[in-house]
Parts: sequence; structure tokens; C-alpha cells
Amino acid sequence: MSEILKIEHLSKHFGGLKAVNDVNMTVQKGEIHALIGPNGAGKTTLFNLVSGFLTPTSGHVTFDGHDVTGAKPYHLCSKGLVRTYQIVQPFRGMSTLDNVMVGGFTHTNKVSVAREKALRALKITKLENKADVQARSLNLCEQKRLEVARALATEPKLIMLDEVMAGLNPTEVTEVMDIVTGIKELGITVVIIEHIMQAVMSISDNITVISFGEKIAEGKPDEIARNEDVIAVYLGSDYAI
Ligand SMILES: Nc1ncnc2c1ncn2[C@@H]1O[C@H](COP(=O)(O)OP(=O)(O)OP(=O)(O)O)[C@@H](O)[C@H]1O
Ligand SMILES: [Mg+2]
Repeated sequence: MSEILKIEHLSKHFGGLKAVNDVNMTVQKGEIHALIGPNGAGKTTLFNLVSGFLTPTSGHVTFDGHDVTGAKPYHLCSKGLVRTYQIVQPFRGMSTLDNVMVGGFTHTNKVSVAREKALRALKITKLENKADVQARSLNLCEQKRLEVARALATEPKLIMLDEVMAGLNPTEVTEVMDIVTGIKELGITVVIIEHIMQAVMSISDNITVISFGEKIAEGKPDEIARNEDVIAVYLGSDYAI
């Protein structure tokens, strides 16, 4: 395996608040890498830094061999790095297919090509039968999958998912876990922020844990589940094995 994403000494300070502080993290090509930690730990801020929505206070981000520190979201997206949002934000008055086609236009301005890419993404996210439905009438699970589909339609090498399972019932969580595993099987690297530990532990190849903006642990799921610092600040003794 080789690395696709390397985060070095990355920091983002908002005034006196060190939302992300000197974080190092490496993601290997083809893996599912989870980023976990308590509420307010800095997970979404880290995603914002990597995906170009925030500029780091200091540090470096290397994607697919290129220094992309401070690069803009559209540039990163065209290079193959894309993310979804913790709060779903579809164009509510547009159909599911049209929403996903927005991503499909990343590498083309041909409607037919964007449509093909969107249909492929809808298939992966099991939304084919919702293609013509207005986004506003989708339930939460479908809206979360729409976010993933829109990102997939850009044909990424690396997709970053911010709490795609939050608020879903156990059956829906299992469905989304299958979709995430399916994305990995297509050869796309996945970085996932998630609070649902059963899901994180079963689908992840590696896990990075942050707390108060700092990395406190990194390892395989079984190592993380046994890590005393992680248990103390996040997992609690219930999850310890
Ligand atoms: N634009 C901003 N300006 C000031 N403070 C911010 C900004 N964005 C985030 N923060 C703060 O940075 C810290 C980290 O927030 P972040 O949203 O990254 O946490 P998180 O780990 O994603 O939490 P959650 O699990 O609740 O989604 C929090 O204290 C938050 O209030
Ligand atoms: Mg967050």
C-alpha cells in the first residue's frame, strides 16, 4: 500500500481556541480510515482544512503526491479529493438525479456524460429508484446517500464522509455501512468521521482519534478499542474489550 493523504503538523487556531493542533495523520490508498473523537474535538475542522474550506494556521497537506496546502475545494475536487457535509444540504427543489449531476460535471461539460456518472453514483448508493424524485421528499437516510452520490459522481480517488450515519436507525446504518464498504471495493479511499462505534470498528482498516484538537491515538480497530487514553476520553469502559 502507498499513502494517498499525508497531514503534517496541521493546526487551525480560531483566536485562542486550538481547534486542530499539530495533527499528523497518514491515509493509505484503498483503505477506510476513520477519524473519531468527542464532540468539538476538531474532526470537521480537520476535514475543512484538508478539503480546502479552511486555510490552516500552519502545517501541510499532501494529496496523491502533491502539496495541496491551502488549495481551493474545486481544485481539490478536480484532483480527486471530495467531501460530504455533516449537515445535508441538497438542492431541495431539484430531482435526485439533477442533484447528483452537479457532481458529474466535474470533469466534463457534456450533459450526457454527467448524467451517466450520476446514474452510476445513484446505483452505488442504492438510489436508482429515486432518480426522478425531488430531493425535498427524500428521507434523512436517502438525503445522506444523495450527499455521498453527489461526491461519488465527481469520480474521486479519496472521499471524505462527515457523519453519514448520524441520525439513522440500525437498519439504515447497516445499509450505509454496506455502501461505504462497496465504495472501498471500487478502489476509492474513504476517510470517515463517525460516532457510531459498532460501525466504525467493523468497517475501518485504521482509526485516528483526536481530542481537544490533538491526535491521541492511531491504529487498527482492536488496538483503538483497547487503548486506555481512548477509553478514558471517548469510548468509555462499556466499549472496552
Ligand atoms: N469557524 C469557526 N470559528 C470558531 N470556532 C470554530 C469554528 N469552527 C469550529 N470551531 C470550534 O472548533 C472546535 C472543533 O469543532 P469541530 O466542528 O471541528 O468539532 P467536531 O469534532 O466535528 O465535533 P462534532 O462531533 O460535534 O461534529 C469547537 O470548539 C468549535 O466550536
Ligand atoms: Mg463535526
